[in-house]
Amino acid sequence: MYSRVLGTGSYLPANVRTNADLERMVDTSDEWITKRTGIKERRVAGPGDTVAFMATEASRRALESAGTDASEIDLILVGTSTSAYAFPSTATLVQHALGCRNVPAMDISAACSGFVYVMDIANQYIRSGACRKVLVVGADIITAACDQTDRTTIVLFGDGAGAAVMGASEEQGLILSHLHSDGSYSQLLTLPYVSTQDPAQENRFLYMKGNEVFKVAVNTLSRLVTDTFELAGMDKGELDWLVPHQANLRIIKATADRLGLGMDRVIVTLDRQGNTSAASVALALDEGVRSGRIQRGQLILLEAFGGGFTWGSVLMRY
Ligand SMILES: CC(C)(COP(=O)(O)OP(=O)(O)OC[C@H]1O[C@@H](n2cnc3c(N)ncnc32)[C@H](O)[C@@H]1OP(=O)(O)O)[C@@H](O)C(=O)NCCC(=O)NCCS
Repeated sequence: MYSRVLGTGSYLPANVRTNADLERMVDTSDEWITKRTGIKERRVAGPGDTVAFMATEASRRALESAGTDASEIDLILVGTSTSAYAFPSTATLVQHALGCRNVPAMDISAACSGFVYVMDIANQYIRSGACRKVLVVGADIITAACDQTDRTTIVLFGDGAGAAVMGASEEQGLILSHLHSDGSYSQLLTLPYVSTQDPAQENRFLYMKGNEVFKVAVNTLSRLVTDTFELAGMDKGELDWLVPHQANLRIIKATADRLGLGMDRVIVTLDRQGNTSAASVALALDEGVRSGRIQRGQLILLEAFGGGFTWGSVLMRY
């Protein structure tokens, strides 16, 4: 028995923040942002766009595209680092909003690798026979976690949610997924909880030592994608689509180069969405599917890298 993606969905806030908007907020320029990152605009959560609301809307669309009723879901996993509450988890709010049965529901904190992490976990539950259908979501409101006056972070991020329904299948879907972490880099990319014990807490915002994260991300992702094909015993020339984490166009190009893949075989949403953290890979997958580029049976590689550090990949037939 394999696990397979049955359907995908997205939710993006209506509010658009362009590079020109950012020029009015901080000392930056469209030219700098475009050249260094590839980002032109991103979405910013409005008053009603909570992480749980966005996750629920993306999930509704994923259920619809999978032809699955909420009552069929056996497990709900949400990758997020910006849930409104420590508890209730976003996953339990989604369970209630969708009218799912009283199935297990949990949030997984793996920063930008959140969606790849929840896909891997869902795969294990499905392959063991414990679940037949699992709802996996990546959702974050990361713009609100940034210091609005810090040009080194505010230009990079956007908000949104992406989801997929994964189900048991006799046809091969997921071929190989593997996850990693290395906490020795923990201080290069951090997002503190607002402390309930320290009212004088100074450090509340997302912090990133961008150029150091960049170097590790490029090397790690290059190694990850080649290792994935080696472990799967497959040739990277068979790959139809790369669905990468959308942090920086230069990182995406370096990963595609390592795979010998032209950019016409890479799903890029970064220019319009920025880095949406745990939602990024899910949003890119949904866009690839809905635009008709990703077709059933094609070989797809999903990869992500984020705070922790955490990283991982999923090689699958769509
Ligand atoms: C953040 C990132 C785009 C910065 O690009 P970079 O080429 O590394 O640039 P640097 O951080 O070295 O900064 C270069 C200069 O630009 C300046 N700069 C930083 N942000 C700027 C902005 N928004 N506008 C204009 N100038 C800016 C810096 O202050 C620095 O100035 P200096 O040379 O006078 O000191 C890039 O490092 C990156 O994408 N990092 C990885 C992100 C990532 O992968 N995250 C993964 C998990 S989320």
